[in-house]
Amino acid sequence: MGLKIVVGGDNAGFNYKEALKADLEADERVDEVIDVGVTGTDDDTYYPNVATAAGEKVSGGEADRALLICGTGLGVAISANKVKGIRAVTAHDIYSVQRSVLSNNAQVLCMGERVVGLELARTLVKEWVGLEFDPNSSSAAKVDAICAYEGD
Ligand code: RB5
Repeated sequence: MGLKIVVGGDNAGFNYKEALKADLEADERVDEVIDVGVTGTDDDTYYPNVATAAGEKVSGGEADRALLICGTGLGVAISANKVKGIRAVTAHDIYSVQRSVLSNNAQVLCMGERVVGLELARTLVKEWVGLEFDPNSSSAAKVDAICAYEGD
């Protein structure tokens, strides 16, 4: 079964969100893409509202992952991390994107439209879709410790 992925961001990330959404929709490893906004560059919904809505879809089981884009990738990560159970990271390089899943079992990848080139962002997302956390790896106990801190 393929992944269900939420995409979202504010107006500073709208153009990349749309481009990356189109890539995900065309990716056979992805079953469903759920867009939680914003709807255009003139939609000034704040990034925390979009990012927490996306995080709740993941924490509630409606989606497996989320891809969030704002100007820097920072505000959406901070916001999504407020949702219980969410591990969101900002990453603009291949090693960090790989480790976000393989080491941290992060379900949310955040990027900044004002930070990274579009073609690199597209390459990173393509790599990200194929990554899978190994619950038998030595990283699992560390992720469990994060969950334990949260009360799980
Ligand atoms: C623009 O509002 C900018 O602050 C936002 O997109 C994001 O970069 C915040 O972290």
